[in-house]
Amino acid sequence: MSNIPQHVSIIMDGNGRWAQARGKERIFGHFEGAESVRACLEAAVEDGVKYLSLYAFSEENWARPEAEVNGLMELLMKYMRQELTNMMSNHVRFVVLGHRERLSEKVNALIDEVMAATAANGGTTLVVFLSYSGKWDILQAMKKAARECSPEQFQAMEIKDFDPYLVTAGIPDPDLLIRTSGELRISNYMLWQTAYTEFYFTDTLWPDFRKPEFREALAEYARRDRRYGKVK
Ligand code: IPE
Ligand code: IPE
Ligand code: MG
Repeated sequence: MSNIPQHVSIIMDGNGRWAQARGKERIFGHFEGAESVRACLEAAVEDGVKYLSLYAFSEENWARPEAEVNGLMELLMKYMRQELTNMMSNHVRFVVLGHRERLSEKVNALIDEVMAATAANGGTTLVVFLSYSGKWDILQAMKKAARECSPEQFQAMEIKDFDPYLVTAGIPDPDLLIRTSGELRISNYMLWQTAYTEFYFTDTLWPDFRKPEFREALAEYARRDRRYGKVK
């Protein structure tokens, strides 16, 4: 396949509806969604996508019922433990970005462990956005810049100089953003970084989004014409 995006990002949505349609608890949808994560990561590795980033839990998601939040954290820990061997053999680097202070010590310790273990892997980078929001990211970047720059440097700052302060520092902006489940919104995801990202919306619910669906999105991306405001 030609014109493979360097960075594919996914707003993984529709787990709850997938479960409810089967008369099951919402958490079953999250479990099935973890299979879609495996499938899409495998496809990304096979197709040479350098960065696959996933919106797994937003800052707003903390307002969900405690049982669901706890279930999601348990699922995340299970995924990290189970997939470490797989990530090592596929040279996958694992990174978590977000407001980590809000996560429990236990979750943070495991994240640190898996990030350290995979840090030197040179294949696809899997970025998991956890307790993340785009507005939070911009605000923490502004505060960090204000701390680290002199007033003169701060005033002289240009747009490109701001990127290193975002949690995504060093990661190229997403080329393609996929959102499943038919919702047509950004839900406070990477607001700054998606300025020129191609959007792909599908009605498919996240637990049903597997390799063929991922590749269909890549094929659609390959047909897009990115102009960045210029004329061709
Ligand atoms: C996405 O599925 C997973 C998370 C936001 C954690 P949802 O849980 O939002 O599923 P729906 O949108 O209610 O169907
Ligand atoms: C967006 O999904 C966040 C994640 C996928 C992690 P939500 O289901 O939380 O978004 P809204 O509430 O429909 O906007
Ligand atoms: Mg949702």
